[in-house]
Amino acid sequence: MSQDSSNVDPLGDANLPLQYDRMLVVLHWVLALGIFYQLGLGLWMEDIPKDPPGIRAGWFNLHKSIGICLGFLVLWRLGWRVTHSVPAPPIGNTDFQNKLSQWAHRALYVCMVVLPVSGFMGSSFSQYPVKFFGFPLPKLWEPSPEGKELFSEIHEITAFVMMIIIILHMSAAVWHQWVKRDGLLRRMGWSR
Ligand code: HEM
Ligand code: HEM
Repeated sequence: MSQDSSNVDPLGDANLPLQYDRMLVVLHWVLALGIFYQLGLGLWMEDIPKDPPGIRAGWFNLHKSIGICLGFLVLWRLGWRVTHSVPAPPIGNTDFQNKLSQWAHRALYVCMVVLPVSGFMGSSFSQYPVKFFGFPLPKLWEPSPEGKELFSEIHEITAFVMMIIIILHMSAAVWHQWVKRDGLLRRMGWSR
């Protein structure tokens, strides 16, 4: 890699890219949009009345179908992330800030895995088959109210924790961009 497209990691001497790889950039923003949609839809759909029948089920199936697609995108992103190098922590950050952002990013990845898995597991224990954009997926096991309850609880708590971390994450991005003015957003941008 030429010196122009790399910088020196302030924590070591490895040459690291200045920005996130474009594939990671696309996956970051597609997943961010998808997750915002899912969080909103998930909270909203629970208040849809069961009568007349069909409307509630339709929105639930849309939530499940999009959630399954996002689950696969997360796997792709994780695979790409571990096989490609990413920029060093922003210059001027304290060790505490670096640790906090590292743990927040890890926690976001954990939530991105746990949400689709717990959603799918909870649904597969319910009495309704999971319909992927209208196509019923095979039944994996017998319905179990305990299994459904356990995974629904995990799904709900994880969604709540994720919302808090996303607020912190966005606040940090806004602070870097408009208070510290170190151009952090460009690291997650398309232009090189
Ligand atoms: C559902 C919403 C979001 C999720 C789950 C999410 C998740 C993540 C994760 C996991 C990383 C670390 C990337 C890696 O090391 O592989 C990251 C980086 C980043 N995110 Fe987000 N993000 C979200 C929304 C946003 C939003 C709305 C903004 C802007 C306001 C933003 C700005 C950034 C920036 C600038 C970075 C790079 C940080 C750095 O260079 O150290 N993210 N995001
Ligand atoms: C990134 C992916 C996902 C996000 C962000 C997400 C988010 C949410 C949120 C915020 C709720 C409302 C709070 C709650 O009661 O849990 C919810 C409910 C629900 N989600 Fe998801 N979800 C995702 C993926 C999935 C998947 C893949 C499925 C099933 C295949 C699913 C099935 C459900 C169901 C059935 C509910 C209704 C409450 C319950 O029975 O647990 N979700 N989701």
